Amino acid sequence: MDRFIIHGPTRLAGELAVSGAKNAVLPLMAAALLTRGESVVSNVPDLQDVRFFTTILEGLGARCTLDGHELSIDTSNLAGFEAPYDLVRKMRASVYVLGPLLASQGRARVSLPGGCAWGPRPVNLHLEGLRALGAKLELNEGYIEGESLAGLHGGRYRFEPSSVGATANVLMGAVLARGESLLENCAVEPEVTQLVEALIASGAKIEGIGTTTLQIQGVDELQPIRRRVIADRIEAGTLMAGVALAGGRVRLTGVDPVHLRPVTAVLQDMQIRIDEDADALTVTAGERPQPVEVVTRPYPGFPTDMQAQIMAACAVATGTSFMTETIYPDRFTHVAELRRLGADIRLDGAQATIFGVERLQGAPVMATDLRASAALVLAGVAAEGETVINRVYHIDRGYERIEERLCSLGARIERVRG
Ligand code: UD1
Repeated sequence: MDRFIIHGPTRLAGELAVSGAKNAVLPLMAAALLTRGESVVSNVPDLQDVRFFTTILEGLGARCTLDGHELSIDTSNLAGFEAPYDLVRKMRASVYVLGPLLASQGRARVSLPGGCAWGPRPVNLHLEGLRALGAKLELNEGYIEGESLAGLHGGRYRFEPSSVGATANVLMGAVLARGESLLENCAVEPEVTQLVEALIASGAKIEGIGTTTLQIQGVDELQPIRRRVIADRIEAGTLMAGVALAGGRVRLTGVDPVHLRPVTAVLQDMQIRIDEDADALTVTAGERPQPVEVVTRPYPGFPTDMQAQIMAACAVATGTSFMTETIYPDRFTHVAELRRLGADIRLDGAQATIFGVERLQGAPVMATDLRASAALVLAGVAAEGETVINRVYHIDRGYERIEERLCSLGARIERVRG
């Protein structure tokens, strides 16, 4: 298993083009299953999760070709309807094939994704929403088994709580269902909005784009997907948090600053300077950041996927910060590891109190999940001395060669293979 050896502290300076968003490309790949022919998605990040998803699509009879950052998915000869445990357990987003398979094949057998490092991650809303469209779904020996042999029909469903994955999954069922569907309290994360845009461009009839209520008039068929993946707001936010932590000045290009506003607002509260352009932003940080109070919420609130990275920045703030996690109350595996680097953090249920210290100290730590690992890398860059991060495969799932990108900004990170 690869590990990173980081020598710190270093400041971050320079310019970087942000990659396409992992969480946007996966639903677009699933949406290709709703169509017949060659879908082409560009600005695709080269990530483990994208490769896993490609394997799932190939298991269903699709032919996938990744050429640089362009992915073509040929669904002319779709055959199967099963996403097996061995693949699904590696990536929860595999469940995205459920809605498309029911809508286009009339059958689906998809392994239950199981929990993850920060606790249970249910799929009840995916199931209930698709049932509202007439799918017959049962749980059998660890699999979701579904049938909609006569096709899905229009239905009404309210997501409670708001769910990115369930909104995408049920929406993909509704676009090919007979009649009209009304989906309420839909997630409005930019990745969901990109899916809605892509479906509309392929011929779907959807009203309410960008709002929490989507009204869908089912159509008989869709044209293949053609889309350029939006920039990864979490990769951008991670780098922004890195500047807050390590100090320096970094310009991030190819981003949509609007998607980053919830993160920008928190960093500005920390007295980090952010200058926005149309499709770029510049982050400038001098001394230690100011403490801040953050609560994670669905978009346009502060993203749970940025909680760990901002906590790492709070670890060196000039006072006491508070972080409340409302989406995944157990998502704190990074706390123990940040403490190993000298952070002073008290955890009380879903709230962390972070007492800022002057400087972090390098130490061996363990990457525990994707975003937690990113926080540890940032902390290692800012920490004094050597930090060794074990099990970096977690970070490779969601960041394209993060060590090379941070090194191009002045960090000193070495990947040791093995
Ligand atoms: C997506 C993102 C993930 C991010 C999360 C929240 C992808 C591939 N992953 O995950 O990076 O952390 O959004 O922004 O896009 N819930 C239920 N029942 C369900 C589904 C969800 O109760 O059937 C709950 C969850 O436990 C959680 C909340 O809904 O409390 C939001 O989760 P959800 O938006 O579904 O997360 P994902 O789509 O899995």
